Amino acid sequence: MIQRLKYFLWILAFGLLTSSCSNRNNKKPVSERTKTGYYQEQYRPQFHFSPEAHWMNDPNGLVYSDGEYHLFYQYYPDSTIWGPMHWGHAVSLDLIHWKHLPVALYPDSLGYIFSGSAVIDATNTSGFGTVEKPPIVAIFTYHNPILEKSGSNVFQNQGIAYSLDHGRTWTKYSGNPVLKNPGIRDFRDPKMFWYDKAKKWELIMAVNDRVYIYSSPNIKEWTLESEFGMGIGAHGGVWECPDLFPLKVGGSDITKWVMLVSINPGGPNCGSATQYFIGEFDGHKFIPDDTNVKWIDWGRDDYAGVTWSNIPGSDGRRIFIGWMSNWKYATVVPTTVWRSATTIPRELSLINENGHYFIISKPVREFRDLRSKSDIASIKQQSFTGENEIFMGKVSLMQSELLFDFKLSDNGVDSIGIILENSLKERFIIGYSTIQKQFYIDRRAAGNSGFSKEFAGVSTAPYIAGASLKLHLLVDVSSVELFVDDGRLVMTTLVFPTEKFTRLKLFSRGANVLLNNAEFHGLEKIWP
Ligand code: FRU
Repeated sequence: MIQRLKYFLWILAFGLLTSSCSNRNNKKPVSERTKTGYYQEQYRPQFHFSPEAHWMNDPNGLVYSDGEYHLFYQYYPDSTIWGPMHWGHAVSLDLIHWKHLPVALYPDSLGYIFSGSAVIDATNTSGFGTVEKPPIVAIFTYHNPILEKSGSNVFQNQGIAYSLDHGRTWTKYSGNPVLKNPGIRDFRDPKMFWYDKAKKWELIMAVNDRVYIYSSPNIKEWTLESEFGMGIGAHGGVWECPDLFPLKVGGSDITKWVMLVSINPGGPNCGSATQYFIGEFDGHKFIPDDTNVKWIDWGRDDYAGVTWSNIPGSDGRRIFIGWMSNWKYATVVPTTVWRSATTIPRELSLINENGHYFIISKPVREFRDLRSKSDIASIKQQSFTGENEIFMGKVSLMQSELLFDFKLSDNGVDSIGIILENSLKERFIIGYSTIQKQFYIDRRAAGNSGFSKEFAGVSTAPYIAGASLKLHLLVDVSSVELFVDDGRLVMTTLVFPTEKFTRLKLFSRGANVLLNNAEFHGLEKIWP
């Protein structure tokens, strides 16, 4: 309450509600709440996280603490369009069901609260708590719109805040900013983590076309260790929201370091996307194994994803969540009341194939609990060609999990795939071309796309399928997440059909294909 009051006073003092700080701050009146029920608007996701109302972008401050997964996020509580950024807040006991909490961080005289991270300061290095009652400490970017407007280069600086009551209330550090801008316009999105080998904090942040790595004994004083990225990886846009963490290679004792770096624009299929590097980190420097560009998700709608800190060792997972949108059209997608959702939280792991390491992403195992006990259908051993409608029993396609196991043979099959269709014949197509050796997702004729000429289109992803091909789809009202062969390839895609998709079709062109097995599950919604 006091934070909110302070925020309003600050807005009055600086007249910021009417100032524009970037081309994203294209103000429009706040949407009226619709007359539909709670979380029942036309395009409202039923099993993904979305804020009750207003604008959201990047996930921030992901930290597990005392049984709760915290999800903070870039939030503008006064509009469905990007504006002065706050940290919205929600918690979950299972990564699936979320409870909304009041805004955690409000802008202040140092600026808006841009993206950042949070940790448990277990040994109280910051002095904000005690060893018995360690603080949660957040580090974030202060983005000062007044300085930005004045033509200064130093409008992004890093500040910290702490909570001693399970993230419910926050105190900003009086010595902010703790990491000052050295004169670079894009200087943001700090992700910190404890580096146990050297008993120090490390921090990776995005600095224009690269990342900087810093270290600190106490979260308040930071020393530059190294930089990484110039001329390496994808550079079609500015680097944002990096992350750096160790990850075990499945079935071995080897641990590699993974660096995530979001870029905007310059993704493989237009606009925003997240690339990753695999290599070694010694507390000072990150050295990549190779410089090939790798994408964590080939779809158009997974951006700024980062991972949770402080997951207990007994659990040991590395859990990722992304913002399910794309800066190309995020501010104009046809939702009312709220804008944007997150992806399903995903467990990341590493595999080694022919001497190269790759990330595998799968929906977290807790997601299985959403499967309906009664709405379930399956198919076994069916051979088909052309387009075939599939009987799904009581499973409602728009809130479903679909699993397919195809057998590909050398009999001349050109492409196979899945179509979601409605009575208006709008169709969302997921295909695999055995000739081009690539997946494609076509939302050109899948419904509402007139809000942006960047939205409709075909996304592709190179992939060499083996003799069998497993597709795993999560379909939720206005999004489809595709996981291929247990997470070797992921494509996340928004879609806004005018009417709900009610028909599921399979296609095979060129020759017959054998569907070994398919399973369809209705999913419970996560909102009351
Ligand atoms: C990424 C991003 C971040 C920034 C935030 C502002 O989507 O541009 O770099 O901190 O959004 O909302």
